[in-house]
Amino acid sequence: MNFFTGISFKRSLTTIFLLILLFTIPLSSQTIGEKIFLTTCRACHTIGQGRLVGPDLANVHKRLQEGWIIKFIKSSQTMVKSGDPDAVKIFNEFNKIIMPDQSLTDPQIISVINYIKEKSPKEATTKEVKAPKFTLKNSLGFNLDEAGRDEYKLGQQYFTGEKRFANDGPSCLSCHNVVNDNVASGGLLAKDLTNAYSRLNAAGIDAIISNPPFPVMKTAFDNKQLTKNERYYLLAFLKQVDYDSIYQHPVNYSKRFIYSGIVGVILLFGVFGLVWFRRKKGTVKKDIFKRQLKSK
Ligand code: HEC
Ligand code: HEC
Repeated sequence: MNFFTGISFKRSLTTIFLLILLFTIPLSSQTIGEKIFLTTCRACHTIGQGRLVGPDLANVHKRLQEGWIIKFIKSSQTMVKSGDPDAVKIFNEFNKIIMPDQSLTDPQIISVINYIKEKSPKEATTKEVKAPKFTLKNSLGFNLDEAGRDEYKLGQQYFTGEKRFANDGPSCLSCHNVVNDNVASGGLLAKDLTNAYSRLNAAGIDAIISNPPFPVMKTAFDNKQLTKNERYYLLAFLKQVDYDSIYQHPVNYSKRFIYSGIVGVILLFGVFGLVWFRRKKGTVKKDIFKRQLKSK
């Protein structure tokens, strides 16, 4: 008796396992494209909801050949530089905003194209869809047009890191610079954001900071999402910086490098001197140990 129930139990387990397998295989292969689109493309593209940072991708497969699309997604700039007429045309049309290279395989890209196909409106309209009006508001119910000096100042504090983000994301200034007399110069790792507002517009910047499509920035904000309020104040700041930019003094980077180099060397020698000085008395290790304890 026991023997038979044992077998049927095993058999039903196997059946359940096979069923799960059967259902999940087609599902997961369908959602790869969707997943890639939502995590990497959505910050810049919509499917049928109008232009964002890049063009609306609705029915893009009817406008362009699959081979072209695959090449463009892998490295749009390679195509622009090689003089491909379609690539050059769309690049110029979008204010020379660079679409970042995607390290995706052909099957992954095809899966994204299939997802776009599936989500595209069935009848291809020749009329361009107008992007909906941008409506981000702060917790007090103000939209961006109503932002004044206080909102701008708060945004500046978030941008520079003077005020911490609720979820502990890094300050923008650690990677980005803006040319503005009120802000000390920032990181040179990533693009200068002085005129980001007029290039990408509010909706584009908001999409990028909600869901960064650039690997370095994405990693930096992993599990550290900005809140709606923080995004609002950052946008108010970037809008003002863009507006003020014609009055600002351009920064001379090479001079700045030399000065900061000199200051850096002096600081380094200072630190070495200190460490050396202490070494004569105690062990350095103890100091570090104490410091570690303190910072915990
Ligand atoms: C940082 C923003 C950004 C991201 C992220 C991005 N794109 Fe783009 N994309 C653009 C811009 C801007 C253009 C317009 C061409 C240009 O400026 O080079 C473009 C153009 C395109 C085009 C050409 C469309 C046409 O009508 O000619 C396709 C196709 C495309 N993107 C697909 C994708 C896919 C798929 C992804 C995700 C894997 C993606 N893009 C991610 C910004 C982006
Ligand atoms: C760890 C570094 C890092 C941090 C921190 C960071 N970014 Fe970025 N950001 C990048 C990189 C890298 C890019 C890709 C473009 C480039 O290389 O400049 C980028 C691109 C952007 C772009 C698109 C620029 C363009 O013109 O195409 C915007 C807008 C932006 N970041 C805004 C912000 C804001 C606002 C913050 C603060 C909330 C922030 N970033 C914090 C690294 C960072």
